[in-house]
Amino acid sequence: MASNDNNKFQAVIAHAKEYGFVFPSSEIYDGLSAVYDYGPWGSELKKNIRDYWWKNMTQMHENIVGIDAAIFMHPTTWKASGHVDNFSDPMIDNRDSKKRYRVDHLIEGYAETLPTAEASALLTQMDQLLAVEDFSGIKQLISDNKIKCGVSGTANWTDVRQFNLMFSTQLGSVAEESDTIYLRPETAQGIFVNFLNVQKSARMKIPFGIAQVGKAFRNEIVARQFIFRMREFEQMEMQFFCRPGTELEWYEYWKQERLNWHLSLGFDKSKYRFHDHVKLAHYANAAVDIEFEFPFGFKEVEGIHSRTDYDLRRHQEFSGKKLQYFDPEINKNYIPFVVETSIGLDRTCLVVLSESYTEEIIPKENGTKDTRVVMKIPPKIAPIKLAILPLLKKDGLPEIGRDIMKVCREEFYCFYEEKDAIGKRYRRMDAIGTPFCITIDHQTKEDETVTIRYRDSMEQERIPMARVKEIVKEKIK
Ligand code: GAP
Repeated sequence: MASNDNNKFQAVIAHAKEYGFVFPSSEIYDGLSAVYDYGPWGSELKKNIRDYWWKNMTQMHENIVGIDAAIFMHPTTWKASGHVDNFSDPMIDNRDSKKRYRVDHLIEGYAETLPTAEASALLTQMDQLLAVEDFSGIKQLISDNKIKCGVSGTANWTDVRQFNLMFSTQLGSVAEESDTIYLRPETAQGIFVNFLNVQKSARMKIPFGIAQVGKAFRNEIVARQFIFRMREFEQMEMQFFCRPGTELEWYEYWKQERLNWHLSLGFDKSKYRFHDHVKLAHYANAAVDIEFEFPFGFKEVEGIHSRTDYDLRRHQEFSGKKLQYFDPEINKNYIPFVVETSIGLDRTCLVVLSESYTEEIIPKENGTKDTRVVMKIPPKIAPIKLAILPLLKKDGLPEIGRDIMKVCREEFYCFYEEKDAIGKRYRRMDAIGTPFCITIDHQTKEDETVTIRYRDSMEQERIPMARVKEIVKEKIK
């Protein structure tokens, strides 16, 4: 599959809507740009990925605990974190179309139209200029390359300016009482401000981590690429607090650990790569992205940052409260250093949707061909694990199906259906990624076996009815 396959991407978006994974938000009013709703199977998939991450981070790591902090935080949080002053992107406006672009996206979009060597020279130049915040240099680069606005088709650009990405709102019911607060642009700050509460209440010893999953909001200017770049999205973050001087070792550890987690989802290793940051964020002394090859190319899914003691030090300064740890092993008080892992839940859903989507040509017995659309979602995160399909709506077959359903649904998500021809029912299950279907037929009544059909190979075999739960459980582990 070519990395720039726009057709495939459009097919994934259409499929996601038609089969209940992702809908445009408030679609009856023509939608809201860069905001999406998850449908029945999308929300199940999202929950499964969230749970898989949560279990891996907390249950499987003795030294990591979770929290669930509020979205609203005291406004000083964002002054201390640097978001009020620094959380902005360099933008440029086209004077004719009035359309605003993030300069890196504008240049990247243009680079995609160039031969590989030229594109990479242009992107290197862009990275170097952005690293030193040389905005007039960036504007010059845009004019030298005659980069045009996709809407007006002109190169009539304003100067490059910085725009803050935080959404603000008012707290309090009347204007006089109100105070401007922000919708959090990352979940991390809820962890930092709770560092001592968690350390003391859960009696954590350094090194230890705090994990959190939750919504974040950014007023993204360039809102495209479906659920890749959203204005309301969900992050799964973990801050790992360690002794100063050990942070780069932990950074290497988490870099590998997180890549292993991605690989454990079951997609090919060649689809992932590390991308070291050239321009480090104001709080980091090392940073890398884990990138995935989406249908529109390699893009970030997760960031791993060594954030030094920046955040805790700033919160200590702004709050006037000590945010230190007494380390009994070295008999010293210090502000811990932090390694952060931050993955986008929606982007991970997009990894799964775009990589699972498969169109297969299937030869039919009469010599013609058929197309099968199958979502090859890894069974452990598939929305529905097992479909229970009586071959006929009579002769006691539905009753047997219902009995199997009763036994299995305590353990995993099952779906029961008796309507339509079996072939049609299989195709519907393929389209939403159900890895296993069982059919109940007349032979079931004779020998208590059912047919299990495997989504990816379409192979079928007979298994004892009494072992359905155990067999499916084993396969989705
Ligand atoms: N606390 C660090 C932090 O927020 P980030 O690289 O800005 O770092 C982390 O974001 C992850 O959040 C990204 O790797 C991405 O998966 C996800 N993310 C960021 N902005 C997003 C957006 N507008 N829409 C969807 N996901 C986004």
